[in-house]
Amino acid sequence: MSVIEIKNLTKRYEIEGNSVVALQDINLSIEAGEIYGIIGMSGAGKSTLVRSINYLEKPTEGSVLIDGVNLTGLKERELRRMRSRIGMIFQSFHLLEQRSVLGNVCFPLELAGVKKKEARERARELLSMVRLQDKETAYPAQLSGGQKQRVAIARALATNPRILLCDEATSALDPQTTTAILNLLKEIHEALGITIVIITHQMSVVTSICDKVAIIDGGKLAESGRVKEIFAKPRSDAAKELISGEISSYLSANGFRHTEEQT
Ligand SMILES: Nc1ncnc2c1ncn2[C@@H]1O[C@H](COP(=O)(O)OP(=O)(O)O)[C@@H](O)[C@H]1O
Ligand SMILES: [Mg+2]
Repeated sequence: MSVIEIKNLTKRYEIEGNSVVALQDINLSIEAGEIYGIIGMSGAGKSTLVRSINYLEKPTEGSVLIDGVNLTGLKERELRRMRSRIGMIFQSFHLLEQRSVLGNVCFPLELAGVKKKEARERARELLSMVRLQDKETAYPAQLSGGQKQRVAIARALATNPRILLCDEATSALDPQTTTAILNLLKEIHEALGITIVIITHQMSVVTSICDKVAIIDGGKLAESGRVKEIFAKPRSDAAKELISGEISSYLSANGFRHTEEQT
């Protein structure tokens, strides 16, 4: 059984009488323990898709199943319980500025009714996992982007989720910090066996961490499968474009110029 199963998912937004199709007939299965990439250009529908996985967006048509349970028709309380199995991190971190690092990681535990002392112990374990044990009294404004994302990761893992959703989690970070955060996610994946979904517009993120990838283009699933296979033999135009973009940015970063530019 798949951990996440998306079946014939269509999402339309109605704005002032106009209908925007954000996602069209998406089918996707993500298995337990995978690191699954979802890649596409800006506006492709990635955030809508990831928000549909935890049902922050309700599908216009189709369904989302988590561990075989269809989220459509769940009562609010059951939905909240399902959501507690899913952690999420974002490009802009979404930390609580008025709370210390420890306070941020304790927050979801307090909401879940965990006693203060127990919550603090758990939060400290998580902070040491993300190597921020010496920052527990700091406030978000005193942290670098990479440190903020580490706090967000610790907070997302506080309630022991089985799935971690990452929406452009490294897009606001420099290349070195991106590598450090991706390595941390890999470590967490190995230590906890958690399923990780990585939403990104960067092919380099997919190639460095993901087992499988789905390419979203204009709200449609262009192609999905093993990263190595898609890289070796892209079938869709969207995949070819993303891969050639990746290769040319690699070449220019390493001092090569495009053949067209050479005389
Ligand atoms: N709440 C919303 N209301 C109306 N349109 C939206 C909303 N959220 C997203 N969209 C539209 O849906 C499309 C996909 O957006 P999004 O999922 O944010 O793409 P991505 O994350 O790939 O950049 C875009 O055309 C966007 O304008
Ligand atoms: Mg987005």
